[in-house]
Amino acid sequence: MNQIQPYISQHKDRFLNELIELLKIPSISADSAYKNDVLKTADAIKISLEKAGCITVEICKTDGYPIVYGEKIIDKSLPTVLVYGHYDVQPPDPIDLWDSPPFKPVIKSTEKHPEGAIFARGACDDKGQMYMHVKAMEFMTATNQLPCNVKFMIEGEEEVGSANLATFVKNNQEKLKNDVILISDTGMIANDVPSITTGLRGLSYVEVEVTGPNRDLHSGLYGGAVANPINVLTKMIASLHDDNNHITIPGFYNNVEELSKEERAEMAKAPFSLENYKKALDIDAVYGEAGYTTNERNSIRPTLDVNGIWGGYTGEGAKTVIASKAYAKISMRLVPHQNWHEITQLFKTHFENIAPQGVKVKVTPHHGGQGYVTPIDSIGYKAASKAYQDTFGKTPIPQRSGGSIPIVSLFEQELKSKTILMGFGLDSDAIHSPNEHFGIWNYLKGIETIPLFYKYFTELST
Ligand code: BES
Ligand code: MN
Ligand code: MN
Repeated sequence: MNQIQPYISQHKDRFLNELIELLKIPSISADSAYKNDVLKTADAIKISLEKAGCITVEICKTDGYPIVYGEKIIDKSLPTVLVYGHYDVQPPDPIDLWDSPPFKPVIKSTEKHPEGAIFARGACDDKGQMYMHVKAMEFMTATNQLPCNVKFMIEGEEEVGSANLATFVKNNQEKLKNDVILISDTGMIANDVPSITTGLRGLSYVEVEVTGPNRDLHSGLYGGAVANPINVLTKMIASLHDDNNHITIPGFYNNVEELSKEERAEMAKAPFSLENYKKALDIDAVYGEAGYTTNERNSIRPTLDVNGIWGGYTGEGAKTVIASKAYAKISMRLVPHQNWHEITQLFKTHFENIAPQGVKVKVTPHHGGQGYVTPIDSIGYKAASKAYQDTFGKTPIPQRSGGSIPIVSLFEQELKSKTILMGFGLDSDAIHSPNEHFGIWNYLKGIETIPLFYKYFTELST
């Protein structure tokens, strides 16, 4: 590809400033107070796609937030790349833990990002990574080097489960027809250890409610004589793992894909330092399922985690009370072949079964989705690998991630195409956490690598 580096150095400041403007809009899909900002972000994406050279760009209405769709079809006989990304972001809470306001982007350098990183909610997940594709598109059209057809589908509800995108995909199969789906919404091992994500975990997210007495009670007058929903809930939750940290829900592991010794040995070759891992998190030991390494625990093994738990008195000082209700939000990360609907049902049945007398239990399923694995012998993977080889000077390592993008398995089911996950974030970029950031080097490296994917994908396909 000609002139990509000069093009990037020439337009670098503008590329950064445009992203900064986008990051200023608080497009929090989970919180309806930000509705106008989410909609405003969709409009901004539409304009940016038009400027980048898409010919048709539309804001597609859904029952929730709109999907921004853009395309440039240069020749029907050439391959088509469908780019997916999301313009919504996670809530910034807890806001007190941010060193600078989440929607006032600032650039600071860090140990991992000596060239500087943009700090803002959505910097890495996914505005920054999504916008790399917009700028790569700009480069290809501005320099007349777009080698194939492109379609963009940027949604605003990824962080809340993509329910409306699923409908959109099912209803627009022809419009979305493609030869490969390209997503930058994951990470890589390190800036000097490029990797391509080959797997995502599935997800089942549930909320539980335990009700004891019909009202809050004095903990002296009633304590010890009635079930305390918080005591009961925590006991029930504790029982969901055994002493080896296996999950105790009957049937939970039935369909779990077991990797062969060879596959596990291959995985173990990826560079990883347990010492640095512990140091970065300030923990004195790792914790998890017996018989598996840290990298296995967070990628090829299913998990169950409480994401939030509440009930009773949590204000200042002390209040002696037995609450009527206790709640928790629980997520289960799933691996290929575990069906998330089935797992949700197994959880519900088990949780209801283990409830002691004296309480009522309610389990409410939230969203979920299937896991995903992508083969490394596909044209798409090979094209991505060659692109990284050119820009990083190293062959990228295939690596399964522990995160979830539930819509990816639906893409495969409905559109019959494979997804290539070219993520340029680092695990330390604090996505979903306070002080989320994205390295400027990573942002520009992404913009540089993406056009080469198009080039090699087209060459290998035709
Ligand atoms: N981009 C993330 C997923 C991700 C991050 C995968 C890093 C691999 C590496 C995505 O926006 C996300 O946060 N997904 C949610 C699930 C969704 C249904 C809310 C997740 O993984 O918790
Ligand atoms: Mn994301
Ligand atoms: Mn996310």
